[in-house]
Order: sequence, then C-alpha cells, then structure tokens
Amino acid sequence: MIITIDGPAAAGKGTLAAALAKHYKLAYFDTGMVYRAVGLQMVLQNLDLTDEAAAEKVAQQLTFEKMMELSHHPDFRSDIGGQAASKVSVFPKVRAALLKMQQDFSLKPVFANGTPANGAVYDGRDTGTVVCPHADIKFFVTASMTVRAERRYKEFAAKGINTTYEKVLQDMVERDKRDSERSTAPLKPAEDAIILDTSTMDTEQEIAAAIKIIEAQKSI
Ligand code: C5P
Repeated sequence: MIITIDGPAAAGKGTLAAALAKHYKLAYFDTGMVYRAVGLQMVLQNLDLTDEAAAEKVAQQLTFEKMMELSHHPDFRSDIGGQAASKVSVFPKVRAALLKMQQDFSLKPVFANGTPANGAVYDGRDTGTVVCPHADIKFFVTASMTVRAERRYKEFAAKGINTTYEKVLQDMVERDKRDSERSTAPLKPAEDAIILDTSTMDTEQEIAAAIKIIEAQKSI
C-alpha cells in the first residue's frame, strides 16, 4: 500500500505520516529531506541559491546516505534549511534530478533499519501528483496559516532553535507562496486527494480521522 500526504508546512503531515506508517507497518519517506539536503549542501558550500545549474549539480550528486548525513546538521530542520530547500525546489532541473530517488523508494520500500516493508507513506508537496500518482490513498493535509505558524514556532522552541513567532510566520508565508506559485509541481491537491483540514484538530483527532478514511476506502 502506498499512501501520500501532501500539504503546506506545519499542517500536520509529518506527524500523520509517521503515525500511519506505524499503524499500517509501512516505511516512511519524508520527501522534504531531499530538498533540504540540496539546499543545506549549497549553503554549506557557499553556493548561490538562485543558481539553477549549481543546484542541479548538487541534486544529481545527492545520495540517500549523504542526505541522512546532512540530516544531523543543526540547520537541516531550522528556517535556514527550510528556506534553502524552498528556493532550490523551484528549479525544474533540481526536481527532475531528485525524482528517481523518491520514486525508487516506492518500488523497494525499507524501514529505517533497512528491512523491507510492504509499502510506504510519503509526505511532501507533490507526492500524490508527481512522485506517486498511482498511490492507493492520497491526503492533502492543511490548516490555517496562523495555526501552522504557531505549531512550527512551538516545535522550534522545544528544540531550542532561537527564533520568534513573527519570523516563523513570515518564513511560512514566503515558503507557501514559492511552493504554490512555482511552474513545476506546484503545491496543490491531487484530483483524487482527500482534503484534511487540521486547524481545529489535535494530533490524536487528526490520526483517527485519517485512519477512519483509509478503513472506509479499503472496504469499498
Ligand atoms: O516539508 P519540508 O518543510 O521539510 O520541505 C522543505 C521544502 O522542500 C518545502 O518548503 C518545499 O519547498 C520543498 N518540497 C518540495 N516538494 C516536496 C517536499 C518538499 O518542493 N515533495
């Protein structure tokens, strides 16, 4: 079974994806990691984030192992990593270079410890539209901008990342704009995606709602 979960930043995709992966014993691919890895690598090498050719080269050389190594860097999950990811992800050549790695995972999904899985949960922006258009179940998870900014700010604060609510909100407005206005694979629900607005839901309600939808769909 392949499940895709797309939507804007801090809508609740990651938490839901991890919970569904655990519930249905599926592997998990957080596709934002590939763009964060390319963006951070460019920042670390002092490369110009608006240089498409340079970003394409970094994307072409990215391996799964390198991505995992970069994921331990303190800026991988910070707004520096998020902004850099968002900037390089607008380039069609970068997206093309990173597509195969993401699609190959669905052919041979594995758990974090390397053992094979019977399917995968993907989370990202275009996993239901571009990466896995034939997924069994597609969700588009969203929430209001202020709710999302508040959630992300709390996440950062819990991790000790030094920022302000205003900065997080501003970062989110910019990223949403870039993600939804880019020409290749813009952020939008797949035609057959189920929209889940989590603005008034807590994590448990969100997970329960998604499982109910999947079970209903499985019995059709
Ligand atoms: O989900 P996350 O915040 O880690 O993603 C970082 C950035 O990577 C997003 O803002 C988006 O620009 C880009 N991204 C994308 N396509 C995906 C996943 C992430 O363009 N499938």
